[in-house]
Amino acid sequence: MLTAHLHSSPMESLRRAHGNVARVSSEDVEFDLSTDSLQHRAGVALPFPLSDPSGSCEELITQLFGFPHVILLSQGRLAEALLARACVRPGAIVPSNHAFPTTRIHQELCGGVSVSCTIPESRDADSLYPFKGNVNLVELERACHAHSGNVGYVCVELSANGLGGQPCSLENLRSVRVLTQAHGIPLFLDASRILENSFQLIAAQSDLQQRTVWEIVRETCELADGMTMSLTKDFPTPLGGVVAVRDAAIFERGLDFAMAMGDGLCTATRKTIAEALRHTRENTGYTQRRMALVSRLHAGLAAAGIPVLKPSGAHAVFINVSALVPHLATDEFPADAVNTSLYQCTGIRGSTQAAIPGMPGCAAGLLRLAVPIQGFDAQAIDTIVERMSAWIRSCESIPGLNLVYAPPTPGGVFRAWFETKQSAARPQPFLETHP
Ligand code: F0G
Repeated sequence: MLTAHLHSSPMESLRRAHGNVARVSSEDVEFDLSTDSLQHRAGVALPFPLSDPSGSCEELITQLFGFPHVILLSQGRLAEALLARACVRPGAIVPSNHAFPTTRIHQELCGGVSVSCTIPESRDADSLYPFKGNVNLVELERACHAHSGNVGYVCVELSANGLGGQPCSLENLRSVRVLTQAHGIPLFLDASRILENSFQLIAAQSDLQQRTVWEIVRETCELADGMTMSLTKDFPTPLGGVVAVRDAAIFERGLDFAMAMGDGLCTATRKTIAEALRHTRENTGYTQRRMALVSRLHAGLAAAGIPVLKPSGAHAVFINVSALVPHLATDEFPADAVNTSLYQCTGIRGSTQAAIPGMPGCAAGLLRLAVPIQGFDAQAIDTIVERMSAWIRSCESIPGLNLVYAPPTPGGVFRAWFETKQSAARPQPFLETHP
């Protein structure tokens, strides 16, 4: 049975998307968990009327995060491009806890080398260590020492997506600060999920429980020289990226970049962003609601026997694909095959993510189910859990995929065409058998 708002069935949508579920329009996905970004999601209503707020976006960002110089752009990845151009010279390394792919791409486009310094706990899928997003201080020191004078900057992603949505502690960040100052290296945050990171710290540390989330946010930012941010994760806006720094020279170079590239914003978008910032300053209820929904999803899927990474991430649940489909070889695109089956059988879509660096038994990568700050409620999560609990029974017969075509460019694989391998027992589409 098709839900009324969908334009076509999963089968038909997949056919039009050349078998690549990532290419299916969000409008054709009943439960789209492929991203928590509000940018590409169909039917997101803003929770406020568009008035004409006083105070510029830049001033609001300085008030909230404390950095004096702010450049507002349309996307987080433009902010990353700007920062990399300002700080990364060819041959420089850029150590991080494990930077987001677009962050790494921009560092590498500038000739830099992105280096992940992860802690051993982050590689243990079952460890309940609460700060798996921490930077490995020994590896960081070693990297800064070995590349002395040639480190672009150190980057810490908060609630690190590539590590399963896990937080970095203030204590760890303080040590990173001491280390980077000793080496004269700037420290920048990817603060796209700074509210989640702050709430995760409050939940994990009894000494923080009397503090407000905005106090933790400010304390986090005080430890850094600046930040990049995609606003579409923690703020109810479909567009917005930020570079905010203390250094006036980086700011001026950044303004040149924004002049040459454009900021991608119009007046109406600026108003939406200003309103979203003001709204969230008063009300962080969405973030808490979203985190509660993600925990509910995590608990439900774990109870159904689906191999999820522990503990639950703040913005997403991550499924260990190798454990789910050990019968698929890596050249059969296991993560994409699982995502395709999930979409076909249940109307739910996730996104494929690289494995956490060095995590044993995780060769096929991860399937991420991300929950945005708007658009889902407990009932939707329970429906998702129910459908996936039925779907998991057919996982052992999920067929692999054949690559039909991929444009011969570095990003071509993301736009690939796939076909499903023929298999004797194909999983039954849940939507067709359970109206
Ligand atoms: N940094 C982080 C941590 C992100 O998660 C994203 C985007 C970006 C930067 C880039 O920001 O999309 O505004 O250009 N994450 C989305 C996701 C795409 O699904 O995780 P953007």
